Amino acid sequence: MIRDMDCNKLWMEKMRKTPWSRPQGSGFRFWDQRARQLDMQRKWNQEITTRILTWLDLDPGCTVMDVGAGTGALSVPLSKVARHITAVEPSEEMLFFMNKFAREEGATNISCIGKPWEEVRPFEDVDEHDVVIASHSLVMEDLKAALAKMDLLAKRSVHIITSAGAGHDCYQELRKSLHDGEDREGLDYVYPYNILYEMDIYADVEIWNVEYRRPFVCLDDAVELWAGNLGASSPDAKEIIRSYLSRWIVVEDGSYLLNSRSKWALISWTQR
Ligand SMILES: C[S@@+](CC[C@H](N)C(=O)[O-])C[C@H]1O[C@@H](n2cnc3c(N)ncnc32)[C@H](O)[C@@H]1O
Repeated sequence: MIRDMDCNKLWMEKMRKTPWSRPQGSGFRFWDQRARQLDMQRKWNQEITTRILTWLDLDPGCTVMDVGAGTGALSVPLSKVARHITAVEPSEEMLFFMNKFAREEGATNISCIGKPWEEVRPFEDVDEHDVVIASHSLVMEDLKAALAKMDLLAKRSVHIITSAGAGHDCYQELRKSLHDGEDREGLDYVYPYNILYEMDIYADVEIWNVEYRRPFVCLDDAVELWAGNLGASSPDAKEIIRSYLSRWIVVEDGSYLLNSRSKWALISWTQR
């Protein structure tokens, strides 16, 4: 039975093994180091943003909390529809790029909370918002507590975007080449979905096929970032990553581009 599985415990065990959970004392360096990259990705994937905005279908004038808002890929465009956006984002570098993007777009209705979601105190740091969103940002060990807080602070609805399956196709193939037998896969939508089920929240789910473009400044940058994502630091592993990426990356408009396909899960629920 799903309720006997303790999906939160399974999630925690897997999350602790990922390079993007916070190794002791590292703070949010992993995410700081990815802010420039994420900002470039935002610019190359605007049609996906448009698709997400259509899915969210926000009422004009509503208030939105964006958990793990990154460089503002959703917060900034949403600020044109919503009355106010609260962006929760613990990485200073991400906030730097978000503020820059907001200034460029003339957005003045975004406020930022520079804390991880776990440390945000309901009704002290933030009040309820009409809508809570979290896009590719379920980087919390205690996912059940994180989801419960989203539910608590959402007056109308919660919308979560996360991966379905093992992530994008290039990444999967590379993992096989690296002979990485350790199980770091599976941190996908079934965990939050089942945890919500345990909480008596029967969410809607849509699965999308997504073509995503990842631009890099140069091949060396791509190798370093992917080595970090894969937790692979040895020279041999980096060589495998380099030879793999150099076969797949194409140069377009001066950018080194990796085009990949993946499945995304869009989970949402409205308040009972
Ligand atoms: C892959 S990015 C996604 C950013 C953005 N939501 C998007 O869709 O472009 C993940 C973001 O979650 C943030 N993050 C990591 N751990 C977090 C936590 N515990 N609470 C809130 N945000 C977190 C990271 O700093 C990063 O900006």
